[in-house]
Amino acid sequence: MISPVLIDRFGRKHTYLRLSLTDRCNLRCTYCMPEFGMKFTRPDHLLTTPEILRLGKLFVGLGVNKIRLTGGEPTLHKDLPEIVAGLSELDGLKNITMTTNALKLQDMAQDLKMAGLTGITVSLDSLKPEKFNQIARRNRLDQALTGIDAAINAGFNPVKINVVIMANINEDELLDFLQWGYYKPVDIRFIEYMPFPDTGWSEAGFLPYAEMRRRIETEYTLSKVDSDPSAVGKSFSVEGSQILVSFVTSMSESFCGDCNRLRITADGNIKACLFDDTEKTLRDVMRDGGTNDDLKTVIQQALQSKPYEHEPMDDLLKKDNRRMVAIGG
Ligand code: GTP
Ligand code: 5AD
Ligand code: SF4
Repeated sequence: MISPVLIDRFGRKHTYLRLSLTDRCNLRCTYCMPEFGMKFTRPDHLLTTPEILRLGKLFVGLGVNKIRLTGGEPTLHKDLPEIVAGLSELDGLKNITMTTNALKLQDMAQDLKMAGLTGITVSLDSLKPEKFNQIARRNRLDQALTGIDAAINAGFNPVKINVVIMANINEDELLDFLQWGYYKPVDIRFIEYMPFPDTGWSEAGFLPYAEMRRRIETEYTLSKVDSDPSAVGKSFSVEGSQILVSFVTSMSESFCGDCNRLRITADGNIKACLFDDTEKTLRDVMRDGGTNDDLKTVIQQALQSKPYEHEPMDDLLKKDNRRMVAIGG
């Protein structure tokens, strides 16, 4: 049962919480953050592990059934296995997933599975070492691929692979990714490049879903499969393979009408929409001795001010939004 606290003005039920554990990352992806000048949150401004678990429990009690751990890079949080284990004790929470760059999975995948993590999504934007280095500003492709294998070996199935497609950068790898994944227990999700401040986004770098799909269909036969209405991706099966290919069409065909997502930033703000810069602090309510009812009041206020949809692509760059690294996707 979902509490009215999690239902917004448009009747959307928010059952999916994206919890950012840190705004730090061991890569420097161009589309996610500037190379220099990032100001990371002071450690004492970050939620503590007990605060994270308190919020997890509160949201699950209100009706959240899926939590995705994000960053920055969530594997950099020293208490990650403890956080997963704590969340996995919550009745009603069906999925605990994580979006990661995979660099640390070789050491962690098995432990996270044992702790109760139910799904892993890996951000991987190129299969070519030089291109990976150009996009991520770090030469770590082999380490990422080893991490993906570790996740597969730990039993995550499918491991979802997120590829942000950028024109003139990695658009030539659409077919390479399918070939790479064809016999693996992976789903591949091609993501439209979204505009965030100071990340070099320009319309010329944007490749819409329809064009990605057209190029893939020159070589592969795709068939539409049903997905949850709130899913951000349109999914297709691929003839001859077990994989699903999805397209995250945030810009060309936005899916806001069915949005079920809420976010908490690593510094404890509730952010009702990815592209909405109005945020409210839950951290300070907790540190001022607030009760769960006080927290619920703030959560409800945040949801009531959630916009129906994000603005058109060209207007998003002008907004004073956080960088993606400090939102977590
Ligand atoms: P699933 O649980 O597999 O459905 O994961 P997910 O798609 O919710 O999460 P993931 O972290 O893999 O995000 C995939 C892409 O969708 C990223 O580029 C996100 O930034 C984008 N995305 C996630 N949530 C939203 C959203 O609420 N609005 C928009 N516009 N894009 C989103
Ligand atoms: N456009 C599209 N997707 C993005 N992500 C990060 N920044 C952007 C952007 N500007 C993706 C990451 C990650 C997910 C959480 O968000 O690749 O997989
Ligand atoms: Fe939901 Fe905002 Fe994303 Fe639209 S842009 S799907 S309203 S979070």
